Amino acid sequence: MTHSSAPGKIILFGEHAVVYGRPALAVPVTQVHADVEVSEADRAGIWINAPDVNLHAELNTLPSDHPLASVIHNFLFLSRTSPSPAGRGRPEGSGEGQFPDLSINISSSIPVASGLGSGAAVTVALVRALSSFLSHPMSDEDVNAFAYEIEKLHHGTPSGIDNTVITYARPVYFVKGYPIETFKVGRPFTIVIGDTGISAPTKESVGDVRKLWEADQPGWEKVFDEIGEIANTARISIENGIVEVLGDLMNANHQLLQKMTVSALELDQLVDVARNSGALGAKMSGGGRGGNMIALVKPEMAETVSRALKEAGARHTIITQVS
Ligand code: PMV
Repeated sequence: MTHSSAPGKIILFGEHAVVYGRPALAVPVTQVHADVEVSEADRAGIWINAPDVNLHAELNTLPSDHPLASVIHNFLFLSRTSPSPAGRGRPEGSGEGQFPDLSINISSSIPVASGLGSGAAVTVALVRALSSFLSHPMSDEDVNAFAYEIEKLHHGTPSGIDNTVITYARPVYFVKGYPIETFKVGRPFTIVIGDTGISAPTKESVGDVRKLWEADQPGWEKVFDEIGEIANTARISIENGIVEVLGDLMNANHQLLQKMTVSALELDQLVDVARNSGALGAKMSGGGRGGNMIALVKPEMAETVSRALKEAGARHTIITQVS
């Protein structure tokens, strides 16, 4: 039996502008995670158990574009076309039918479609568990590239930030198309994540920003530049342990996201509640229109802000320390 776990993630700065080549910062959220166990099944086939989504099915009974099936099919295809010498009992070039009978258990505590990277975390945990059970070693780089391909199937034109931060499970400074840079946190800081409970497809908000940009490229390029500067300043501040300034940077970034029309009334309300209950600053996080917001807090204020967010209607809150 093999087991693999992957954390959630949250974008601190730079969402949306990252799609246009500006930097973004994202960090793992270890309080929530996706977990996958792979073992040999006692009956024929590849059996998937995912009780969180009420799924118990044999792989071939699922549509091939089913999110879990597509990860498994793609992995099996990859391991067939680039066989590793240690492959478990599987002749080179064999079909999917010759793989051992597998039982795959998938669980996740990451809320879905809310900007915490639930899809990418399941993909990363699943591919790592399969690669280890089937003795098909994959480097972090391989896992990341694989997870990016899967993200593309489901999200159109993702920047790749989700799969990157989740694969490496480290704070990441991400610029699309550039080598991954992890960065150090000079002094740990605490954020509270508040979930509006509204699930909003990232693809749509990304598409709407694209329409705005197409109508006025110079104008929006300026906005993206401002966001890029915020992300760069934030990285330097985090590395140097000057974390208090992150509050103002969050507020400034939120305002620019509002301008981009990707915030929502519920997000704006939670952002205001966080600021009014003692946070040092707050912003929406991720694709927007729903999903999560984040607030920078002094550790001793975390519970107060979390409670205020829940009272104001947040579906879940997570207090996490970035270190
Ligand atoms: O909603 P999330 O956390 O998956 O983030 C989307 C981030 C965007 O910048 C809006 C899109 C992207 O692909 O980077």
